[in-house]
Amino acid sequence: MSKLDNRLRSLKIKRGEKMRKPIIAGNWKMHNTLFESGEMLKELLPLVNKSSVEVIICPNYTSLTEIFKLLKGSNIKLGAQNMHYEEKGAYTGEVSPVFLKEIGVDYIILGHSERRKIFGEIDVIINKKIKAALKHNLSPILCVGETLEEREKDITYEIIKKQIEYCLEGLKDTNLDKLVVAYEPVWAIGTGKTATKEDANDVISFIRRLLSEYINKKMADKTRILYGGSVKPNNIKELMEMGEIDGALVGGASLKANDFAKIINY
Ligand code: PGA
Repeated sequence: MSKLDNRLRSLKIKRGEKMRKPIIAGNWKMHNTLFESGEMLKELLPLVNKSSVEVIICPNYTSLTEIFKLLKGSNIKLGAQNMHYEEKGAYTGEVSPVFLKEIGVDYIILGHSERRKIFGEIDVIINKKIKAALKHNLSPILCVGETLEEREKDITYEIIKKQIEYCLEGLKDTNLDKLVVAYEPVWAIGTGKTATKEDANDVISFIRRLLSEYINKKMADKTRILYGGSVKPNNIKELMEMGEIDGALVGGASLKANDFAKIINY
């Protein structure tokens, strides 16, 4: 970063502005039927049409096409929650990046802790998925985070380092402009417990240093790194005040139009 960039950065931080355009993404997980998704969106859209952040909604697969139509003309982008790394083939039950791109998906959550824990997804597979997403012009939202046990053993930074290292393996010379990272401590997901804003900021700053080391500083400075784990209307503001936190990946609170709108309009 040049001296001028640095001065600009501290000025912006003083004014509470963000260096990178914030992202607020809603992960609807396996909730909302097609009908419920539509009803929720009808409520949400008028509440967030003046938002200055990038808003992403990640509904289930069966709602994607319909939601894409409902989002037309709005400022909200469409994301999916998982995908396979192959384009096509005998992979029963899987969804290809090509199919997602075809129906207007822009973002793809990869490596969510529920995928890791319940479906046994491991870093090498997530790495293949990231490569496939980038190849098909999808923006991966790579999730990393430690479990409670790992935090108590004081190995949070070790775990994050390993996840980033493995998930981004072989990507050094790739254009990573599209990459988004989400720091989601597993113990904070769906539990009502949030990391302190300082802890979240510190881990995110560590992730940025890792990106700088593994890829390069320019890319690390540009990459949006979100916090996720029990983000609610009453804690979003303090999280967003932290210099390193570029947004939030929201689960439970993104299912209620009013709550999600409050988070988006923090
Ligand atoms: P939560 O979920 O906001 O319900 O904790 C976050 C996530 O799983 O991405």
